[in-house]
Amino acid sequence: MASKSFSSSSSSSGCSPASDRRISVLARHLVAENALSSSPIYASPTSSANSVFAHIARGPEDPILGVTVAYNKDPSPVKLNLGVGAYRTEEGKPLVLNVVRKAEHMLVNDRSRVKEYLPIVGLADFNKLSAKLIFGADSPVIRENRITTVQCLSGTGSLRVGGEFLAKHYHQRTIYIPLPTWGNHPKVFTLAGLSVKTYRYYDPATRGLNFQGLMEDLGSAPSGAIILLHACAHNPTGVDPTPQQWEQIRRLMRSKALMPFFDSAYQGFASGSLDEDAQPVRMFAADGGELLVAQSYAKNMGLYGERVGALSIVCKDADVAGRVESQLKLVIRPMYSNPPIHGASIVAAILKDGNLYNEWTIELKAMADRIISMRKQLFDALHARGTPGDWSHIIKQIGMFTFTGLNSEQVAFMTREYHIYMTSDGRISMAGLSSKTVPHLADAIHAAVTRMK
Ligand SMILES: Cc1ncc(COP(=O)(O)O)c(C=O)c1O
Repeated sequence: MASKSFSSSSSSSGCSPASDRRISVLARHLVAENALSSSPIYASPTSSANSVFAHIARGPEDPILGVTVAYNKDPSPVKLNLGVGAYRTEEGKPLVLNVVRKAEHMLVNDRSRVKEYLPIVGLADFNKLSAKLIFGADSPVIRENRITTVQCLSGTGSLRVGGEFLAKHYHQRTIYIPLPTWGNHPKVFTLAGLSVKTYRYYDPATRGLNFQGLMEDLGSAPSGAIILLHACAHNPTGVDPTPQQWEQIRRLMRSKALMPFFDSAYQGFASGSLDEDAQPVRMFAADGGELLVAQSYAKNMGLYGERVGALSIVCKDADVAGRVESQLKLVIRPMYSNPPIHGASIVAAILKDGNLYNEWTIELKAMADRIISMRKQLFDALHARGTPGDWSHIIKQIGMFTFTGLNSEQVAFMTREYHIYMTSDGRISMAGLSSKTVPHLADAIHAAVTRMK
């Protein structure tokens, strides 16, 4: 085939005899190659049935990401995905913030920008601005230069790097995580080399904080143990301590030299205010003690897939912070060498420009407000249906998620009968709801609690 089309095109091209000859040599060469590639290929001893991987069992889907896999397979036109922890508009669409588009536009049009590797610790501007965002511009830890901030792969990567650093260099290898918590926490910290234990956090009876249980468990943790704290908008419960409770937690932890490791995945998403949501972290930073914080820009800037985050370690003085940073580099280098440049450049562009920063806070507040309004609408819809039970936790809880209190049978029922998808612990993403879908969800909850007690 190849030779045919070649000779016909050459003869019609009006080429010289020399070029005709060259073309027919090339055609013969291609025919020979073609013959070679159609000869049978014999299976190597390690292929197909004899695979050296044949013994490997299929792993389970991730309990959170698996919800989306099941949702995608459902052909129902009324299906609703409330499993994924990602913001959706009233139209149910993913949102790229206008301010992010603007920053990207600036970056693309800046011809001086190159794609060279970043340093191991990431983009310097991004790191400085991220520390300022979480600790506050006038924070003593920044003024005294006793902090190191390294750019990591979003919140997850920051937790992992922090976990590995602690497993290597900190005298206590046990981390206490709240019960319940984000499903990835135990896996991240176990693989980082820490031993994971839990402290009581949520009280199913009140659908609120089990403050007494929390204080008892932290009180009996061994001195120096690491304590994972959700900075705000606790996932999955949406239940946060009050400022007074945070103060009591801080005092107890400092009195026992417990090491705070904050996970800040939702700054600005809980209250709509970046400063207010950072208060617990700032409260601990202000007392002069040491702490870690993992920041994510996935939710608050909608940069999910760009994987932008930062790990900060607050130390007693600048000298220790410098040495800590040198060791963080040794953790990061063999893990992924250095972080990606694009997302961090977007964040830095927004954080350093007063106008873009203001625009961001307005868009962020709009996302937080829409979530708060979904809470109110769902609560009202259940109230209107006379759904049995006290649903006030829907409006009391905060952040992206509501921990509904529905059990796994009720969740399975809602998926089967109403095509509503959520994690089996009854957590729903309020960000995935809209005014249009609230009635469908309220009908499903009503049916689940009245029929599946
Ligand atoms: C509590 C908590 N921590 C950390 C993360 C990590 O998110 P990412 O790695 O996408 O920044 C999430 C994401 O859902 C979360 O809910």
